[in-house]
Amino acid sequence: MRIIKAKDYDDLSRKAANIISAQVLLKPDCVLGLATGSTPIGTYKQLIEWYNKGDLDFSETRSVNLDEYRGLTRDNDQSYYYFMYNNLFKHININMENTNVPDGTEPDSDKECSRYEKVIEAYGGVDLQLLGLGHNGHIGFNEPDKDFAQTTHCVDLTQSTIEANKRFFASIDDVPKQAYTMGIGTIMKARKILLVVSGADKAQILHDVLCGPVTPEVPASILQLHSDVIVVADEAAMAKL
Ligand code: F6R
Repeated sequence: MRIIKAKDYDDLSRKAANIISAQVLLKPDCVLGLATGSTPIGTYKQLIEWYNKGDLDFSETRSVNLDEYRGLTRDNDQSYYYFMYNNLFKHININMENTNVPDGTEPDSDKECSRYEKVIEAYGGVDLQLLGLGHNGHIGFNEPDKDFAQTTHCVDLTQSTIEANKRFFASIDDVPKQAYTMGIGTIMKARKILLVVSGADKAQILHDVLCGPVTPEVPASILQLHSDVIVVADEAAMAKL
């Protein structure tokens, strides 16, 4: 595992974008595993800036996102598809046919989850998987549990997640109760993993992930067992290491 210390969020974003850029330059048709959330936004902005300067070409790049809310359509501004389109895809020359986000509108979860696994398999696997880190150690929507979930699956959102999300919706009834997410096994199959972590509020969990026992109670702790992980974290997030 390689741990790269960034001064602050902007520095973290540049460093993470540099690693993704290197991947795209070295293998233009690479498969990028992508994440939503607040942490990667600066990384995506940096990639867009370099694309606009003519330094990057995504025309052959393929992407698979980690997760999506079950029941939300692509044009719902809370869907992860909407997030990816607006924070990255529409600003670069990626072919939208080569971008993949689990289909939240597919009601048959087994069908959608096995379709998604097949997409990743048909691509030959993920070259570089970008991950953010949840305060409880979650990656994707893999929450603390008794076991590590293997493949893409449907998860029930915890009541606290539903409560936390309700501010984004007209009423609590509109908040999705489930999500589709890559499993820990799917994530661990990526050839390279880039974990980005920012802020003092992530310092304790980053310590537990990197220095604590490998346990499904801290899902990201499994990354200790992956052979090619890069962690880019800012000083605040690294305060307890
Ligand atoms: C996003 C995702 C989540 C986030 C995590 C951290 O697709 O799967 O696991 O990466 O919740 O989110 P932020 O970056 O907002 O702290």
